[in-house]
Amino acid sequence: MNTRVVKAFGDPSLDKGVMEDAAGIIRAGGLVAIPTETVYGLAGDALNPESARKIYEAKGRPSDNPLIVHIARLNDLEKIARDITDKAYALAEKYWPGPLTMVLNKKDTVPYETTGGLDTVAVRFPVNKIAQEFIFASGGFIAAPSANVSGRPSCTTAEHCIADLDGKIEMIIDGGEVGIGLESTIVDMTGDMPCILRQGYINEAMLRDILGEIETEAPESEHPKAPGMKYRHYAPKGKLAIVRGGDDEVIAKINALTDEQIKRGCRTAVIASHENADKYEADIVRDIGSEDNEDMIAHRLFAILRELDDAGAEYIYSENFDTPRLGGAIMDRLMRAAGYNVIDADVSFKEEDN
Ligand code: TXA
Ligand code: MG
Repeated sequence: MNTRVVKAFGDPSLDKGVMEDAAGIIRAGGLVAIPTETVYGLAGDALNPESARKIYEAKGRPSDNPLIVHIARLNDLEKIARDITDKAYALAEKYWPGPLTMVLNKKDTVPYETTGGLDTVAVRFPVNKIAQEFIFASGGFIAAPSANVSGRPSCTTAEHCIADLDGKIEMIIDGGEVGIGLESTIVDMTGDMPCILRQGYINEAMLRDILGEIETEAPESEHPKAPGMKYRHYAPKGKLAIVRGGDDEVIAKINALTDEQIKRGCRTAVIASHENADKYEADIVRDIGSEDNEDMIAHRLFAILRELDDAGAEYIYSENFDTPRLGGAIMDRLMRAAGYNVIDADVSFKEEDN
């Protein structure tokens, strides 16, 4: 298949032709990669079972992993979900359009192919203008998982989509780099107590403001309610470890580790804060942004993991980025990418000293 890559600008007068073409593809059951404010999505018609099957195939994703349905106006929520509580409406009022996904009981309009066999549906109303134009033009209900091939870091640019999906889908809409760079927060609103299934830009404190009490699903839960969370995710080709501890200890530990791997003839990389980046001696050092700019850290994370793949990094060591507002979401992705491989710089030094 020949994949067309076209630019869009978030201005209806400039994007009209692109949106007509894209909508034609969706209505015919085809697939289009689109920008959103979080990450690029791989879009198909959410109400067409055949489109869902194609999405699973293009991503190489197990079909028990449900897709998020994207809408572009609040009124459409009732067409696909039922038992929508006051709390769910309050969340929608506050954070939609935006990087928040709600899990609700589904209506029969949504096929089980889209929900991975579940009686619930995950719904999101993105704020990105290109995404909104596209959803409108395509009939209002768009299933879109992140556009990466299953297991790889999510796509934050059209180039990432090309790398993963060229030849597998009809069209990629290039809207430039996404804003946030981490997938949406997912909240299950079907139980007595709302439950965070995936952390994101809308953090726990922001949800508590509206919902009061709220649970968070344990990150390594064996049977997560968001089925996608059980699969290996974001993993770079190299072996990634997160090194934790005081700044000086982390820098010394990472330099000792990379030194050891370089001597063995391996290609090493470090993911470092801007403040520390010039203190490392690895083959490749990626400055992810200042400790004080957590939006930048979130924005750069997936692109850096991909860059390190392209650069052939075999051993990757990352600092810990447990920042106040987005630290939960950033570390969730980084920990999954590392397969929860954490090295404690302070402790191991003490052990070595003994
Ligand atoms: O920011 C985002 O949410 C992006 C953009 C494209 O909107 N989409 C995204 O989709 O991250 P995906 O498929 O990569 O992740 C969706 C997650 C998966 O872990 C999936 O298991 C979970 O949402 N999910 C979907 N429907 C669900 C449901 N009915 N109940 C529980 N979890 C669900
Ligand atoms: Mg994903």
